[in-house]
Amino acid sequence: MKELTLTKTKQTDKDKRHQENLKSAGEIPVHIAIIMDGNGRWAKSKGSIRLHGHKVGVDSVRDITESCAQLGVKYLTLYAFSTENWGRPSTEVRGLMKLLVSSLRKEVDNLNKNDIRLTTIGQMDRFPKDCQTELQEAVELTKDNERLELCLALSYSGRWDITEAVKKIARHVNEGRLDPELINDQMIGDHLSTADIPDPDLIIRTSGEYRISNFLLWQLAYSELYITKTYWPDFRRDELYEAIRSYQQRDRRFGKLSPQKDENSISSRLLNKKS
Ligand code: IPE
Ligand code: IPE
Ligand code: MG
Repeated sequence: MKELTLTKTKQTDKDKRHQENLKSAGEIPVHIAIIMDGNGRWAKSKGSIRLHGHKVGVDSVRDITESCAQLGVKYLTLYAFSTENWGRPSTEVRGLMKLLVSSLRKEVDNLNKNDIRLTTIGQMDRFPKDCQTELQEAVELTKDNERLELCLALSYSGRWDITEAVKKIARHVNEGRLDPELINDQMIGDHLSTADIPDPDLIIRTSGEYRISNFLLWQLAYSELYITKTYWPDFRRDELYEAIRSYQQRDRRFGKLSPQKDENSISSRLLNKKS
């Protein structure tokens, strides 16, 4: 398989070994979603302006995207800008938009070389026109790539997503094409912006806050959570490996019993022994 070169540094043998160990230790999550938080505090701790934190945060995005692709993660969703973030001072919002456009411009070739497909979720029509065009182009130019889907949540919030799904379903009912009794959770999931991708297996939040901040509210019903104090600009692959190692030790029961605690399977094993 082709070497991945998103960070422009050659992968070290030590890192390759880490990844191999992780892959043989257990399951690699199919979908990782990250609340990339703490850019401002990171910048403050360095005596710098908030925008500097956002810029260094882009280096973390590169490193985490590259290592996820190398590990065989299939979907990586990054919470980059929330609906509520529009309420920040306009200088910061404008700085973030500029950073988005310039990063996309720089990265599209790299995404293609590395077989990574870019997609977005969120209320894109709230973005300035140049941002929308840049995003649409990047999505179009990478649409046939298959190794990893990198989904940017932009002007996104979980409540917005659910509200939009409810509107679409209500329209079907209104047009007489849907019996409300037939609405179920599968149908709601199919009308969310994430309809084409599986629910996240692992959600990571950086900067030590124990909250979801209106991220994938519906989709995270059974996601495993990993919260670290590290600010996003300092979050690099070694900590991603730690998060995955933690994920591999979880007992995902989905409300049921884990196989070794399942009374039925114990009694059936005893019955099998007797007969
Ligand atoms: C996360 O970092 C990036 C965005 C929300 C755009 P913040 O900008 O929230 O940084 P803190 O949380 O203030 O440190
Ligand atoms: C969450 O971070 C949103 C993103 C990472 C894009 P915020 O900084 O906006 O969240 P709060 O204000 O700490 O909840
Ligand atoms: Mg924050």
